[in-house]
Amino acid sequence: MNFSSYTNTALAAAKKGASILLKYYNNSILNVEYKGEIDPVTQADKNSQKAIIKIIKSVFPQHGILAEEDSVNEINKDYCWIIDPLDGTVNFVHGVPIFCVSIGLKYKNEIISGVIYSPIMNEIFIAEKNKGAWLNGKKIRVSKVKDIIHALAVTGFPYYIKKNSARVIKNFKNIMLKSQGIRRSGSAALDMAYVACGRFDFFWEEGLKPWDITAGTLIVKEAGGKVSDYNGGKNLIFKDTILVSNGSVIHKKVLRVINEKE
Ligand code: IPD
Ligand code: CA
Ligand code: CA
Repeated sequence: MNFSSYTNTALAAAKKGASILLKYYNNSILNVEYKGEIDPVTQADKNSQKAIIKIIKSVFPQHGILAEEDSVNEINKDYCWIIDPLDGTVNFVHGVPIFCVSIGLKYKNEIISGVIYSPIMNEIFIAEKNKGAWLNGKKIRVSKVKDIIHALAVTGFPYYIKKNSARVIKNFKNIMLKSQGIRRSGSAALDMAYVACGRFDFFWEEGLKPWDITAGTLIVKEAGGKVSDYNGGKNLIFKDTILVSNGSVIHKKVLRVINEKE
């Protein structure tokens, strides 16, 4: 597959960011700081981000940037790169190998390119608008599971969970009782990539940010899946809730469960 210069740039930047993450992984000099009570950031997040932005800016100096560890917000530019330089920081800090770099490109109101790179697994997920989704060069599709009871679900918990947990726990309980099982990986971007390639059948979470879900949204859609908020509304990337699934049949069923009062 020949990718656009946007995707090739995202790929080069993701590889560079990931190489920096690997240098810090399982290294004692992480300089962990806390943005919130349970929300860490490390030198690896910051240096990965710096390198990613440097590569993108060297090719597309006019484009905007929205990156997790940066106060600059250029989302209103036509082209804006939305970057999570390390998705799965809590895993990373604990030496759990589930983490990735996630880079998406928005043009006006559409996501046109997305790359998620999981360096320990050596897996690169790529999508381009209207051109499909790939894992390590092979085209990927979502699963075909149609019933919740046969579905393997995945979720995550927002950093505000200690203060506001009622809905999260209600949904977790109801889906646990109705599905085949639930996993919690600690990387929302990889959760979405795994729905895209059929490993998981659906993913839901609240409190995510654009950098967690931009690349994943395109990858899932291009793999034939569906993305919405908890009301079924179209999700660009600024909604507070997200449901990602293998398609409309299971999507509607999960939305019903998520909207149960208790
Ligand atoms: C977090 C991860 C996690 C999800 C959190 C995210 P971070 O991102 O994606 O799986 O449950 O809500 O904030 O902080 O590791 O980049
Ligand atoms: Ca993240
Ligand atoms: Ca992050």
